[in-house]
Amino acid sequence: AVAGHGRSHAKLILFGEHSVVHGHPAIAVPVHAIGAEADAVPVGGALSVSSDDAAITAREGWQDVPVMAIAATLRRLGLPEEGVHASIRSRVPAGRGFGSSAAVAGAIVAAVADLHGAELDRQTRFELVQEAERVAHGNPSGLDARTTVADRAVAFQRGAVREFDIALQGSFVVADTGVHGSTRRAVADVRALLEREPERAETLLDRLGAIAVDAERALRVGDAQATGGMMDESQRILRELGVSSVEIEALVTAATGAGALGAKLSGGGQGGCIVALIGDGDDATAVTEALRAAGAAGIWSVPPAPHPSGT
Ligand code: MEV
Repeated sequence: AVAGHGRSHAKLILFGEHSVVHGHPAIAVPVHAIGAEADAVPVGGALSVSSDDAAITAREGWQDVPVMAIAATLRRLGLPEEGVHASIRSRVPAGRGFGSSAAVAGAIVAAVADLHGAELDRQTRFELVQEAERVAHGNPSGLDARTTVADRAVAFQRGAVREFDIALQGSFVVADTGVHGSTRRAVADVRALLEREPERAETLLDRLGAIAVDAERALRVGDAQATGGMMDESQRILRELGVSSVEIEALVTAATGAGALGAKLSGGGQGGCIVALIGDGDDATAVTEALRAAGAAGIWSVPPAPHPSGT
């Protein structure tokens, strides 16, 4: 082939961020409407990447994950790790809890496979994205990588996954604090708390895991009130774990004050985005306006049940 093409998408964590790092279950949904694409072309020499997103290329070491994604895929295909350039077009905002690096890696893995006429199954794509992610993020749980290759909602625990359908009506509104959150730092802060106050921190993480189990049930049956309540409780716990921020609290308060059924940070926290649940028939505009007035730098509406596109 002259060029290989691949695409992937953003992810949104609904329950269990941070506790998932410590072996508890978590729930995330693919956001198919926010995509990343990559083209892989044969070139002479070393592996290289380019991106059309200045917010991605502005960050030092941004090439590490994408280059690693090419290398890992070539290795899996039994090919030498050279002679491929990948150009990335990503609409996934970076550093906002949307899993931009996993989305980009997922698109690249698919593009490199396509270039060589190979079909990789979901599990293999997950493993390759996770391998690339590990380079840049230390020791990620794999939740981002797995959701990036998923079509449906994902219940994830220690690498094991179950995809399921969400019956919830209404919508999720995602709002950006405008502050770049470092997942690596937030994860390190939770680990430090675990060392300092093991009993308290473990109780909080256990509770987040238990909520994720109950939340899967509520999402499957479409119980919006219960889901919202569990989002609020999760946010209180995440705050106690030290991964919330003034900006996150302001958006969460604005959303629930304007009628959202629940709201919490999503992803690493200490910046990034919050997610609020709007009930079926409730006034999404009131919530959106309140979020904007509270300083949201960006707002997205995400349907609870993912709609896979492109296939
Ligand atoms: C980051 O999107 C989610 C965290 O749970 C980290 C991880 O799962 O590796 C904070």
